[in-house]
Amino acid sequence: MLKQATVRAAIIIMLAAVLLVSCKKSRHYELSRFIAPAVCGSCHDEIYEQWRGSMHHLSHYDHIYREIALRDLKGLTDADEIEEAELCVKCHTPIGFVSGLPAKTSDHLKKIPEIAQQGIQCDYCHSAVKAEKLYNASIELDPGNGEESPGTKRGPFKDSHADFHETAYSEFHTRAEICGACHDVRHVVFGTRLESPYEEWKNGPYARQGIPCQGCHMYQRPGIPATGSTNRPKNPGRAAQDGPVREHIFTHYFTGANVLVPSRFGSRVQGRMAEERLRNAARVKIDEHIVNNMLRVTVANTGAGHSIPTGLTHVRQVWLEVKVSTLGGRTLFHSGRPDGTGRLDPSSVVYNTVFGDGTGKPVLNIAKAREVLKDKRIGPMKSAVELFRLPGVTGESIVVEARLWHRLAPQELVDAVFGEGKIKIPAVLMASDKKTLKL
Ligand code: HEC
Ligand code: HEC
Ligand code: HEC
Ligand code: HEC
Ligand code: HEC
Repeated sequence: MLKQATVRAAIIIMLAAVLLVSCKKSRHYELSRFIAPAVCGSCHDEIYEQWRGSMHHLSHYDHIYREIALRDLKGLTDADEIEEAELCVKCHTPIGFVSGLPAKTSDHLKKIPEIAQQGIQCDYCHSAVKAEKLYNASIELDPGNGEESPGTKRGPFKDSHADFHETAYSEFHTRAEICGACHDVRHVVFGTRLESPYEEWKNGPYARQGIPCQGCHMYQRPGIPATGSTNRPKNPGRAAQDGPVREHIFTHYFTGANVLVPSRFGSRVQGRMAEERLRNAARVKIDEHIVNNMLRVTVANTGAGHSIPTGLTHVRQVWLEVKVSTLGGRTLFHSGRPDGTGRLDPSSVVYNTVFGDGTGKPVLNIAKAREVLKDKRIGPMKSAVELFRLPGVTGESIVVEARLWHRLAPQELVDAVFGEGKIKIPAVLMASDKKTLKL
């Protein structure tokens, strides 16, 4: 009797273990099932050219990402932290991850198959069926079997026909959730919200108005930033060389705030488009009334569907520079001006997030992020009011200048990863205001 019960218990435990392992393990798809982007590009030439310069194409090559990922992995001993640090490739090299190489971040040092190196690509997104969770890239795929049998490519058209592959309408592709599945990142063990554009959007006014990520990011093209504060005109054209003319073709530049990496490794056009996006995202306003020597400056998020900044907010820096001078040009006050090495004074107004290690100590390595110590972001269509104490000047006029800047990363972080002065991080002027005020 006792023996039987023990055997039964052992079987139950084993079954539970198998179930646990299979739940934790992601779905596997053979690499040979995916078709290289250049093949899709032979018919979808314009879409291919746009995507080629995008951060989706560059997500694996991206040196800023890769050097940080490999550096962060070094020296970790805590198993929970290592688990997180090894999973960067899940989003940054998704076809490689779902087919087995790179299975983890440290595989970056191995020879990764050519197709996987092409980052977030056509056949990954257009084989997507649904998202199991709206974070950490839990996307279910249904790829074909390579070029011999390409299978079904899903998209926004209900009447589309192609000789090469089957087509199917997919509501999923028209919704923010296909983006949100990757554009919300949580620590796999601690659950810390590491990136949250989808959540910010979901709780904001654009979700209520039915404007998904695609409504801005897949309307942008050179000269048309397509933000919340600009027009977002339709882009008529053909989706494929042999296709019919349609009233709107969703663009595939996927422009965000990255002004540097696409310009260096993708296309200069994309770098300029990121500047156009950033210049149409926010407004700055100096209040004319100075009360008790306090100057008020308002920063409004007028163009982003999520917070400013969003995404990798513990690395991105958006900051407010305020300069007060006499009519003659003598500086009386200056906040938020980087020094000669590009560092910002700690008293500057910076919009970003800071993670902590659980004991209140700030950490840059997201593998160690157990808590949020600072969260200063401006939500969609929200504003922030900043107060500055002016030096005791009375009875004269002053000139006040306020500028909102954006940069991809603090210069000191880039210097630490790549070496002093190796890569100069450019700052983009997002918005500014200037007023002459009588005290
Ligand atoms: C669930 C998906 C996901 C995972 C997992 C993920 N990332 Fe990312 N990563 C993103 C997205 C989305 C962006 C773009 C965000 C943005 O531009 O603000 C990004 C951008 C970055 C960038 C900015 C690159 C640049 O050129 O500015 C760095 C650095 C980065 N990730 C590092 C990491 C590291 C290190 C890991 C593993 C510890 C990791 N990521 C895991 C989705 C992910
Ligand atoms: C990050 C995911 C993603 C990647 C990568 C991607 N697409 Fe798309 N694509 C979409 C989404 C989403 C839509 C539909 C947008 C909507 O309806 O709101 C779309 C639409 C399309 C369409 C319909 C025509 C149009 O543009 O409106 C075609 C054709 C297409 N994509 C082909 C491609 C090709 C070819 C590539 C690679 C060069 C590619 N896509 C890469 C997500 C992606
Ligand atoms: C031999 C030419 C050819 C190749 C190669 C090709 N396509 Fe297409 N594809 C077409 C044509 C033609 C259409 C129809 C366009 C239309 O209806 O406007 C189409 C339509 C689509 C659509 C829209 C489906 C819908 O119902 O919304 C998607 C998505 C798509 N292709 C993705 C891809 C992907 C991904 C690849 C590479 C794996 C690829 N295509 C390779 C010719 C091609
Ligand atoms: C109303 C237009 C609009 C909508 C809708 C929108 N965005 Fe954005 N997005 C912007 C603007 C403007 C910027 C540049 C300012 C910024 O970084 O917040 C931006 C920047 C970004 C960046 C770059 C952040 C960085 O610092 O690198 C990412 C990633 C992004 N958006 C993803 C998304 C996703 C995912 C969604 C849907 C959940 C979405 N966006 C919806 C307008 C929009
Ligand atoms: C497979 C995961 C995945 C999916 C799905 C995905 N993205 Fe991304 N996206 C990324 C990663 C990873 C990066 C960052 C690459 C880097 O910076 O190295 C990125 C970068 C971006 C950027 C550029 C950010 C910058 O800093 O300039 C934008 C904009 C963007 N994605 C929008 C979208 C939109 C819109 C959708 C939905 C149509 C989408 N993404 C779907 C993973 C994904």
